Amino acid sequence: MKLSEKLAALEDEEKREAAAAAPAAPAGTQAPTAPRRRIAGTARGDNWEATKKTVRSLVLEEVAPKMQGLTAEALIGEVKTALDKILQREDVQVSPLERRKFVQEMISDTLGYGPLDPLLGDDSITEVMCNSFDDIWIEREGRLEQTALKFTDDTQYRQVIEKIVAAVGRRVDESSPMVDARLPDGSRVNAIVPPLAIHGSVLTIRKFSRDPYQAKDLINFGTWTIDLVTVMEACVRASLNVLVSGGTGTGKTTNLNVLSSFIPDGERVITIEDSAELQLQQPHVINLEARPPNAEGRGQVSIRDLVKNALRMRPDRIIVGECRAGEALDMLQAMNTGHEGSMTTVHANSARDALSRMETLVLMAGFDLPVRAIREQINSAIDLILQVDRMPDGRRVVTSLTEVQGMEGDVILLQDIFKYRFLPGSERGRPSGELAATGLRPKFMDRLNEREIEVPAHAFKAPVQVARPAAPARGRRSFKPPEATEIVERERLR
Ligand SMILES: Nc1ncnc2c1ncn2[C@@H]1O[C@H](COP(=O)(O)OP(=O)(O)OP(=O)(O)O)[C@@H](O)[C@H]1O
Ligand SMILES: [Mg+2]
Repeated sequence: MKLSEKLAALEDEEKREAAAAAPAAPAGTQAPTAPRRRIAGTARGDNWEATKKTVRSLVLEEVAPKMQGLTAEALIGEVKTALDKILQREDVQVSPLERRKFVQEMISDTLGYGPLDPLLGDDSITEVMCNSFDDIWIEREGRLEQTALKFTDDTQYRQVIEKIVAAVGRRVDESSPMVDARLPDGSRVNAIVPPLAIHGSVLTIRKFSRDPYQAKDLINFGTWTIDLVTVMEACVRASLNVLVSGGTGTGKTTNLNVLSSFIPDGERVITIEDSAELQLQQPHVINLEARPPNAEGRGQVSIRDLVKNALRMRPDRIIVGECRAGEALDMLQAMNTGHEGSMTTVHANSARDALSRMETLVLMAGFDLPVRAIREQINSAIDLILQVDRMPDGRRVVTSLTEVQGMEGDVILLQDIFKYRFLPGSERGRPSGELAATGLRPKFMDRLNEREIEVPAHAFKAPVQVARPAAPARGRRSFKPPEATEIVERERLR
């Protein structure tokens, strides 16, 4: 049973108990509500909210030693007994409604994550960000929203953070103030606490999607077009090496996951990630996850170690969640040495930047390689760069699909096969635009032909430009799409 279901069941049961215990009110009168807080001269404040804090810690003190191995039902029983005992001992009176709410909150605190539970249970929320105990934000449909939810106080907030990181055998404190962890449902968590987070602990949760996006979802969101899907599916099946590039949270992992779905079933795929997010559906997939150092600073296994190890596991393809350091070199070598069809992502703002970033990451591997040698490696390893971006209105779009075409001198030649074009006119902060083919024939067509993979010619056809009337007002320029040769030339000169 899910926590939300347990809480709902608890609520029903409490309502029944309250109804049975309530004396029948004479017709036309209301049942008297129990007076709040009778005790005086204690720290239990002026209202139930303040009293609750003290009662909460007393109940926790009582229940904590018995919690080990308790079922949810037994825990609910323990909390109720402890609560009644404490309310009686401390002479606190609460209304049945408050008591019910209190038990629910205690169960949610002990079994779940307090006020975060409804957010974690809501599938329309993709990210949860706590900036302090009373400042909780979410991302829904690509937009940030502040919620009215809050933890009782900073102590409860820190307890939830500690509970999350303790579950993965880590701790978060002054000596280890920055921790990556995971919730049992697979959601990726980052916690950073003072002194690094100057104004208090910050918790960021990237929700794990139970139902990962598929190609059809990306088409519905306007991220991909049908033509792009047709081309990408063909390229993945033809074992081209793909680099997905984009900024933070632009959808790199999501795009990588969808691309991986095109890998034919018969291949042995090894995925390597910092925090396992990819969800491949093929029957022959091995998932590896890097391990951070333990509290004593030992036992780290890096992405790089895993890539090297994966090469000894007879992979057909290797998928690395993100290249952030020296593993870029191992990945390029893998792509160049018989593991075609491998894929990874990199943090960069354009296809050209993605190559520079790879260059920098290769240098981080610690070998003193000349730049030209690195570029040659990149040029022969990477076939395609899929650039993703987040628009100001929160939409994620593919802004280009670029082919690596070879080298001229020291420069890697790039050619856009698809390009996002901003079109004149937008509605309320929603810029209009479209991803369209540039009309250039990609070099990889030869690879597709060799493998007898067909892509209809119209997928690469540039849309016909409708002649627009001359711009009416001074200073406004009509959109003129660049000529194909101009694009190549521009890329060359960048
Ligand atoms: N095309 C899309 N349309 C709408 N939402 C999307 C799309 N792609 C991704 N998302 C959502 O955006 C969030 C970020 O996606 P994702 O994890 O793929 O990004 P990322 O670039 O890998 O992030 P990071 O840089 O943190 O690794 C997720 O919650 C995901 O569900
Ligand atoms: Mg990612």
